[in-house]
Parts: sequence; structure tokens; C-alpha cells
Amino acid sequence: MSGALGSVFGVDRQLIRDQTYFVIEQSQQVFACGGWSKRESLFGSDTARLKNDALLDPLHHAARIRAFFVHPAWARRGMARAILHACEEAIRAARFSRIELVATLPGVPFYRAFDYKSHETYEVPLVNGLSLPVVRMTKNLGNANE
Ligand SMILES: CC(C)(COP(=O)(O)OP(=O)(O)OC[C@H]1O[C@@H](n2cnc3c(N)ncnc32)[C@H](O)[C@@H]1OP(=O)(O)O)[C@@H](O)C(=O)NCCC(=O)NCCS
Repeated sequence: MSGALGSVFGVDRQLIRDQTYFVIEQSQQVFACGGWSKRESLFGSDTARLKNDALLDPLHHAARIRAFFVHPAWARRGMARAILHACEEAIRAARFSRIELVATLPGVPFYRAFDYKSHETYEVPLVNGLSLPVVRMTKNLGNANE
């Protein structure tokens, strides 16, 4: 996993600029974060996301879920659930009817619990020569453009 730090696991400031990233904090300490995106990149930090990170069309494309992390001390206390609900609400408001994401293996049971379906598993090459297995997942919201 350490080979993924900074590239796959890293800050994508475009999510912050787009105001689609949420954090939960206490006493100015962030302990959970996650967001959604109306752009093409499925994962990656500032240095690793797609160069031309084009805006998506809600009529034809799926919104993205991006970069969910919860501090282990706060695990299984509904933090990621709260952020995912906020993201899905915002995605619906933006009139997307589908969501796509790329999950690392530890993230799969979390997304599955919220009706995301697994598709292909593939390997993302890392800077240290190793690779990280990831799973493409999707969810139909069945609203917005129907
Ligand atoms: C995946 C992650 C974001 C989940 O955060 P969390 O705040 O602990 O998740 P929640 O408490 O909101 O869990 C909601 C539900 O998801 C499911 N779930 C979450 N983590 C799970 C796990 N490890 N195994 C099985 N189910 C899990 C459960 O149904 C859970 O409900 P329950 O606790 O009532 O059973 C967190 O474990 C994490 O940061 N993992 C490391 C980074 C990562 O893998 N991020 C995903 C990016 S692809």
C-alpha cells in the first residue's frame, strides 16, 4: 500500500476547487473525508489524475465517488456512510443518474453495503514497480434524467 501513497492515495485539489469534497472534523482535526466528482478522473492525486480532467455530462456519463478515508480510530461509526449519503444527494441534485468508482479491495465491502455493484478487477501500476488491485464499481440512482 505504501507505493500508492502520493499517487493513487493523495490529495486531488480539483475536488476541493469544485467544492465536491467533504470532511468531518473535531477540534480542527479531520478524521474522515470523501467526495464526488463531475470530472472524468476515477482516482488519483494532483499528480496522477487525468491530464485533461474534462467535465462530465450528467445525461451521458456517470458521476464519480472519490477518495474516501476514515481514521482507524473512527472506523465503523458511520462516518463514511454519512459522507456517502451527502455525496449521493449532491450527485442527484447535479442530475446524474449513475455513479462509477474505482475501489481498493478494503473499500469494496463498504460500497457493496450501499448497493454498488462490482465489475472488473484490474491492476494500477505504482511508482515503485508494484501494482495495486482495484475494482470498478457502479450504482444506478434511477432518478434525475428519467
Ligand atoms: C472503507 C472506509 C472508508 C469505511 O469507513 P467507515 O466510516 O468505517 O464506514 P461506515 O462506518 O460508514 O460503514 C458503513 C457500512 O459499510 C460496511 N462496511 C464498512 N467497512 C466494512 C468492512 N471493513 N467490512 C465489511 N463491511 C464494511 C458495513 O455495512 C457498515 O455498516 P455497519 O458498521 O453498520 O455494519 C474505511 O474503512 C477506510 O478508510 N478504509 C481505508 C481506505 C479505503 O479503503 N477507502 C476506500 C477507497 S477506495
